Amino acid sequence: MRRVALTLGCLTTLLLPSVAAHAAVDVTAGKRLYVDNCRRCHGARAQGGIGKKLAGDAAYWDFDVFKRTVLTGIDDEGRTMKTEMPRWGTTGFAKPAGVKPSDDDLRNIQAYLRTFGRKRTSAN
Ligand code: HEC
Repeated sequence: MRRVALTLGCLTTLLLPSVAAHAAVDVTAGKRLYVDNCRRCHGARAQGGIGKKLAGDAAYWDFDVFKRTVLTGIDDEGRTMKTEMPRWGTTGFAKPAGVKPSDDDLRNIQAYLRTFGRKRTSAN
């Protein structure tokens, strides 16, 4: 009995943080934000267009780099991007108008982008 309790205790400790992390990501909310704000330049499947392809690429960047790029326009190589893309941290979303992207918003958008394909590897 004591062993069972111990095992359960360990399992709970191991499982709870990941359950909480998953619960925080909302792909449907990410889709809405993407469709309303990003799709016109990055394409319906994040395949690129006016903006770069995000599927399989920025979709898998470290969150902090993704966030910096979207909010301030400084990309994964530390380069200041061209001006076509709004600095979302300054302008706020087009819809909901003027609302600054929160970490949750950005995580949800990135989670939605991951639905379009796997991480690009050096092989492709
Ligand atoms: C008006 C067009 C436009 C809109 C709208 C737009 N982008 Fe972009 N985006 C661009 C362009 C153009 C680039 C490439 C700029 C460059 O490399 O200099 C880019 C680059 C990016 C990059 C870096 C990609 C890479 O591989 O370097 C990310 C990430 C990104 N956009 C995310 C978003 C997100 C998220 C949204 C919606 C909130 C969005 N973009 C909306 C035009 C746009």
